[in-house]
Amino acid sequence: MGTTTGNVRLTDELRREHDALLGSLTALERIIHRGDTDAAHGLLEWLRETLDEHRVKEDAVLVPRLREHLGPQAPAATKLLKEHESEERVIERFVAALESGELQAYRGSGLALIDHIRTHIRREENILFPMIERPLNDVEREGVQECFERVTQSTDGGEM
Ligand SMILES: [Fe+2]
Repeated sequence: MGTTTGNVRLTDELRREHDALLGSLTALERIIHRGDTDAAHGLLEWLRETLDEHRVKEDAVLVPRLREHLGPQAPAATKLLKEHESEERVIERFVAALESGELQAYRGSGLALIDHIRTHIRREENILFPMIERPLNDVEREGVQECFERVTQSTDGGEM
């Protein structure tokens, strides 16, 4: 126990989730350019659920580690939390536009959402993740795994 196992890093699962999210954004972009609101509804549901769960995981494991490395006031951690809050607002605007049926608002808010999430993911992967990336030891790996499982269970309908 307590030894480093393989190359498992805290950010590995988060990076995998980013790849899935980026794939869905590419699909959403095509759907928006086609003006297909039915397909957008279907994809939005998945996107929303996945992003909600993903944000909780990042808040739970990334923020404490950024603060551990950079100090309790770490601006990088504060900025991450702010970006997550604005992500929710950007999604709400898209949902409202989708429900209003106004094509221009639907396009504008949809493309803004795509841009916001892509920029956010790039910033996390290129700036934030490298700050804390190192192989996890057994104890840390188990802790992170348990935390992620709790998040998945709670967002699947249970409670935290
Ligand atoms: Fe992320």
